[in-house]
Amino acid sequence: MSDVTPQTTGAGQGDDWSLFRNRQVPQMVRLDVALEHGAYQGLKKALAEYTPEQVTQIVIDASLLGRGGAGFPAGRKWSFIPKAPGQKYLTVNADESEPGTFSNRELMETDPHQLIEGIALCCYAVGISQAFIYIRGEYVYAADQLDRAIAEARAGGYLGPNILGSDYSLEVFVFRGAGAYICGEESALLESIEGNRPMPRSRPPFPAVVGLYGRPTVINNVETICNVPRIVFKGADWYKTLGTPTSPGTKVYSISGHVRRPGNYELPLGTTLRELIYEHAGGVPGDRAVKAVLPSGAAAPWIPGDQLDLPLDYDNPKKVGTILGSASVIVMDETVSIPHATLRLTEFFRHESCGKCTPCREGTMWLEKTMERICAGEGVPGDLDLLIDVCSKINGRVLCALGDFAVSPIQSSLKFFRHEYEALIPGLAPVREPELVAADK
Ligand SMILES: Cc1cc2nc3c(=O)[nH]c(=O)nc-3n(C[C@H](O)[C@H](O)[C@H](O)COP(=O)(O)O)c2cc1C
Repeated sequence: MSDVTPQTTGAGQGDDWSLFRNRQVPQMVRLDVALEHGAYQGLKKALAEYTPEQVTQIVIDASLLGRGGAGFPAGRKWSFIPKAPGQKYLTVNADESEPGTFSNRELMETDPHQLIEGIALCCYAVGISQAFIYIRGEYVYAADQLDRAIAEARAGGYLGPNILGSDYSLEVFVFRGAGAYICGEESALLESIEGNRPMPRSRPPFPAVVGLYGRPTVINNVETICNVPRIVFKGADWYKTLGTPTSPGTKVYSISGHVRRPGNYELPLGTTLRELIYEHAGGVPGDRAVKAVLPSGAAAPWIPGDQLDLPLDYDNPKKVGTILGSASVIVMDETVSIPHATLRLTEFFRHESCGKCTPCREGTMWLEKTMERICAGEGVPGDLDLLIDVCSKINGRVLCALGDFAVSPIQSSLKFFRHEYEALIPGLAPVREPELVAADK
């Protein structure tokens, strides 16, 4: 029997700074309940006290880094949108297709008005009158919650024409995607909304200049936008008391794999991997050792198990050759074969490659074939060099980061766990004493 208990609450619960402060409140989708719990205070304050430029400046001063993966400063991204009048859009990225990532889902299901308020603040700051929430099709409940919350917010004067009696108007639409990893990539997402096959665009021009329907467009992750109301309401200085000087605020870490209490934990940025695994997620079942951790689902290089004191922020993971990304932490214990786990990731990327760029389309297929051969015990001594060579032909030679993501688990596992690959390849496997081979039989 497993000693794993899924976790739906976590640190931050009840704290006034927490994005999840209301997640145990029943019916937060209802506007009256949301208002009782402080919803739309940031929007009221902004419309009464701040110009759009001031709201952008508050978000710049707070150094809010994008939570979707790249950690790009949100306020700076907003400031790139041309000031000239004309149609501009916000698209909120709720595709959440990274394996092991489930923070956006809980944020949308438990407190949809927090996201809507963040959208209204972003759009007010940038001068946008139409916003889309691009949500993956499987998130039926979250999409239904959003539809209902948007309708109530509109009826209550928090969306729609002349919000709260001001001259600012905004419409928000939920767009349900059909489901593909590539739809989370921002330019493929725009293609998907436009009704086209979701394939990344060549950049420049960047979406801030030519985005949705050819118009300037902000694209931000759900968690990024959910941070905005509390930043505007409580101020940039308050926000910077959380987290680290270069990575302020909190992050919802989605942790899964070999831990007793997988779930979403909202913690200050800079929390160590060890604290996350042992203090919050309950440690490893059977008290086995951690062999390795994927810090950002399938998309980032492995962290070896001897690096558990690594602070999880936007700077420190780079020191060990990886990134925080979406902070969807997948823990693997000492029983895992790293080449076999990496093969699963490679299969995923081969399947999800949209096929537009030849190096990604063909390269992920060759990586999968080579990895399969190795894991079946049929590899040949040149296969590890072949893997490294194919990776180098994909990395940096593609239109979007999917190709780069595909090579990173292979490259990093060859760096930290090469001996496990060698042990699988006849001719490279260490020669074993005859009595040990006999003992295996
Ligand atoms: C293949 C691929 C998949 C992605 N999937 C997501 C996703 O599901 N959600 C997300 O917010 N960002 C995803 N991104 C990152 C987006 O392109 C974009 O950087 C992000 O939505 C920007 O929001 P942020 O600045 O608030 O982080 C993905 C990127 C790539 C290359």
